[in-house]
Amino acid sequence: MSTFPDGFLWGAATSSHQIEGNNVNNDWWRMENATPSMMTEPSGDACDSWHRYEEDLDLLAASGLNTYRFSLEWSRIEPAPGEFSAAALRHYQSMVDACHRREIKPVVTIHHFTHPAWFRSHGSWLEQRGVDAFKRYADKALGSLRDLEMVCTLNEPNLVSTWAGVMSGASSPEGGEAKPRPEITARLLDAHTHTVEVARSHGLRAGLVLAMTAYEVAGGAAAQSYVDEHRALDEDVFIEAARADDFLGVQVYTRRVATDDGLQPFGHDADGPSARTTLTGWTFAPRSLGYCVRRAHELAPDLPLYVTENGIATADDEERIEYTTEALFSLREAMDDGAPVRGYLHWSLLDNFEWIHGYRPTFGLIAVDRETFARTPKPSLDWLGRLAKQNGATL
Ligand code: BGC
Repeated sequence: MSTFPDGFLWGAATSSHQIEGNNVNNDWWRMENATPSMMTEPSGDACDSWHRYEEDLDLLAASGLNTYRFSLEWSRIEPAPGEFSAAALRHYQSMVDACHRREIKPVVTIHHFTHPAWFRSHGSWLEQRGVDAFKRYADKALGSLRDLEMVCTLNEPNLVSTWAGVMSGASSPEGGEAKPRPEITARLLDAHTHTVEVARSHGLRAGLVLAMTAYEVAGGAAAQSYVDEHRALDEDVFIEAARADDFLGVQVYTRRVATDDGLQPFGHDADGPSARTTLTGWTFAPRSLGYCVRRAHELAPDLPLYVTENGIATADDEERIEYTTEALFSLREAMDDGAPVRGYLHWSLLDNFEWIHGYRPTFGLIAVDRETFARTPKPSLDWLGRLAKQNGATL
């Protein structure tokens, strides 16, 4: 028997490019459709949620979940520099309204990995004018949407900083661990801080949502220092910058092991590949959630926390329930020890476009037919919805 605080948010998350379909005007679409392409397959129609979001919300609401986190697609809102689409903004307002009609709390992410294709020639995150372009978009989006309460500024800026570094050639994954570039991180944090201020001026609560990993030190001082050095750039700088925000979003999937030889790749233990991995090749490690929440709380003791993503890529829905049960147990323990967690949003509502891996890794509580787009809820949706209705009492 385990209950969660009153008003705890129980929900699921998605992002625009992964579910909407035909975001032909963004940088990912360009990469997916380049020849050669490092992507497994193009996103194409994705889940066609641009047209079917009401259906998605019906299923979410019927399950008993009370919160939906989704993102705005910058390339639809600002298809050309400085030119904004009233129709796209209207579309996202309709999504917010559709949430309210079902008594679902909308949580909107301003930036979830994708950029308009023109962003690259306008400086991207490598130049201040790129940051200025982002601010102009964030101002417009926040000034246009109504009836919102909670906004995520940047999704996983630590990954954005890492990728921007790799794509610009400034850091190389082959030369060791790809890591966030401090100068890019500084620009992302500038964009973030601005967005928080603007969100607050509209009466909203805002924060960033960070990719976090649990670390296991299988070695001595050298192993520990590999963890410390990596985490300083990848997590700590962002958590410290978030201290004055309204909340921090914690997003956790797995753990990594460090030996005295260095950080082992995802999906590896100290002595080689992990015995149990998921469809993304990551170690099955659900208790990483509690570990990361504790660490976020340690670094930002006064900050309310939300789990804004947590889930597993698996074709076996029973395994999804097993993973999520363990993850929630570890979360509850961290909360019992004082971590102020206010919500749990599962990744993901739908089986969707998993970036470089394409459609094979299925994270969804709902299956989506790739030809007809028919939605089929999995038992895990009903299971999580029941937990939500009883505020965790059946865990
Ligand atoms: C991202 C999602 C992604 C998920 C699973 C997070 O890094 O925010 O877009 O699908 O992890 O890889």
